[in-house]
Amino acid sequence: MQDAIQYIRTRVNRVPKLALILGSGLGSLAESALNAIVLPTADIPDYPRSTVEGHSGKLIFGELEGSDVVFLQGRVHFYEGHNIRNVTFPIRLLHALGITHLVVTNAAGGINDTFRPGTIMFIHDHINMTGQNPLIGPNGDGGPRFPDMSNPYDSDWLRKAEHAALKRGIATRKGVYIGVLGPSYETKAEIKFFRTIGADAVGMSTVPEVIQAAYFGMKVLGISTITNMASGMQGPLNHQEVMDMGIAMRSDLETLVKGIVQETL
Ligand code: HPA
Repeated sequence: MQDAIQYIRTRVNRVPKLALILGSGLGSLAESALNAIVLPTADIPDYPRSTVEGHSGKLIFGELEGSDVVFLQGRVHFYEGHNIRNVTFPIRLLHALGITHLVVTNAAGGINDTFRPGTIMFIHDHINMTGQNPLIGPNGDGGPRFPDMSNPYDSDWLRKAEHAALKRGIATRKGVYIGVLGPSYETKAEIKFFRTIGADAVGMSTVPEVIQAAYFGMKVLGISTITNMASGMQGPLNHQEVMDMGIAMRSDLETLVKGIVQETL
């Protein structure tokens, strides 16, 4: 970790307070950063490698609407064979750099049948269905052994973000994200179960990262792009469809993210 911090600090002279993690199909949002310094994660000591299409590994430091930000392109997923500590390495790195605010985006399947593909959903809570927890092991990173998880998605920040969206004419919804391991998509029975227990959208990321961020007391704003209806609610699912819808939603998401940076920090 120390080597990674050193590597970044020698290349970036102003560390921002905000990081944005870009989900499937959303990587190109980083192109909106001005005066960008691009660090391939492959060059950062100890940084785990991502292998998923649509997740090219880069940290992009730059300016958005006059604020310093860092974009993370290429998150790592548990289903790639990483251990759960690797999945949340980027969050520990961001925290160690001094970042206090995290916007986490992802692609998700809509379980709530009023969430059509193309819906932007703010995550107001999550259900950890992964059976994993990134905090398992010795408690050596300075946070509590038993972190509170009653408000991991900062409700004040969420309210301000909803307002920023409204002002820009971008429709958003709010819902509960259920995090699963993947890489297989869900069965119809699983989706029925997830709906029953209160989930609005399902995806294969975000939950471990948000648990790690909550441990550090970071403020988190979660945004899901609903790229497809969940299993059993449409035809067979495929990753290409998820990527294509992410790309189609890019413009609204960029406007939204800029509004969040301008108005809510
Ligand atoms: N299920 C799980 N993960 C996903 C989905 C889905 O339907 N869509 C995008 N990521």
